[in-house]
Amino acid sequence: MNQDELKQLVGETAAKYVENNTVVGLGTGSTVKYLVDALGRRVADEGLSIVGVPTSDRTADQARALGITIKDVDDVDHIDLTIDGADQIDKNFQGIKGGGAAHLWEKIVAINSDKNMWIVDESKMADELGSFPLPLEVIPYGSTQLLKRLEAKGYHPEFRMKDGQHVLTDSKNYVIDLHMGHIDHPHELAKDLDSMTGIVEHGLFLDLVNTVIVGHEDGPEILEAR
Ligand code: A5P
Repeated sequence: MNQDELKQLVGETAAKYVENNTVVGLGTGSTVKYLVDALGRRVADEGLSIVGVPTSDRTADQARALGITIKDVDDVDHIDLTIDGADQIDKNFQGIKGGGAAHLWEKIVAINSDKNMWIVDESKMADELGSFPLPLEVIPYGSTQLLKRLEAKGYHPEFRMKDGQHVLTDSKNYVIDLHMGHIDHPHELAKDLDSMTGIVEHGLFLDLVNTVIVGHEDGPEILEAR
């Protein structure tokens, strides 16, 4: 199986965990795309009744087109389960997200969810975090000065650009990626980044996930994190 087929495997496996009459946080990315496709099929074929809370405009568009009822995070009173992808997960189930520039909305939905599940192909599992660059969503105003402050701290920041333009998040902010190589103390780093003016949110998702589904050649592996 190639990486895409492993993503499809975990996306379709996760869709089976969604129960009738629940509110489901819908993550973002190429793995979640398979989840949303599978949920769309369950809605059409089984009459599954769910409300989806999307974490990006992309996911909202896909879910809507498949006939899944969607609501804004502020229009639901709770979220039963959020299913999302991840860019890297370490052996303590800490994660990096934001490779698709959606981590701000993803984190808002995640912290407002009773349970969180991540779905990944096996290449995302690592002993430690940091070989995947850590994304920051930052306010455009003053972001060049912020980049210098991050440089001075030795965090190896780079603006995320596409075709010579800043990549914009759904909230119209910029993204800075930290190329740190390895992150020895994720909680300390998170605390430092939380304290820096201009950073709206970083992509460290710590102590958040309950269940991880990992796609392997021989089938999905279900890991209970906490
Ligand atoms: C979006 O910003 C990210 O957090 C994604 O959830 C993450 O990058 C996983 O994406 P893929 O499923 O496309 O690898």
